[in-house]
Amino acid sequence: MPARRTVLRGAALAPVAGIALSACSGGGGGGTPGAPTAPVELGAESEVAKGGATLYREENVVVSRAEDGSLKAFSTICTHAGCAINKLQGTTLICPCHGSEFDAATGEVLQAPATVALKELSVRAKGGRIVAGP
Ligand code: FES
Repeated sequence: MPARRTVLRGAALAPVAGIALSACSGGGGGGTPGAPTAPVELGAESEVAKGGATLYREENVVVSRAEDGSLKAFSTICTHAGCAINKLQGTTLICPCHGSEFDAATGEVLQAPATVALKELSVRAKGGRIVAGP
């Protein structure tokens, strides 16, 4: 009698284990960071000073403003191995993974190991808000 109960319990648990496994493997692939695939509103235009830059970590975008007031935006997905860059010092972006540095005003590499400039995004100010996208 005890033996049969054990068998039954094992059979009942099997489908549950299967669901848990598939949910786990599906979640692993969904965590890859990415730059916006459609135009996204980042914040107020006043957040980006002339000669400065602002990092929008949630959206993986950096916006810089030249002295003439024009805006530029770049994806902050590192071109070395795809980490999301999370640090901005002045107008220098620093990747947490292997220390590559990029110029937020031009997207150019300042420090290896990355060798390719950041991807430029289109950016515009609309009603006092900054909108950037592919
Ligand atoms: S992924 Fe950024 S330095 Fe390697």
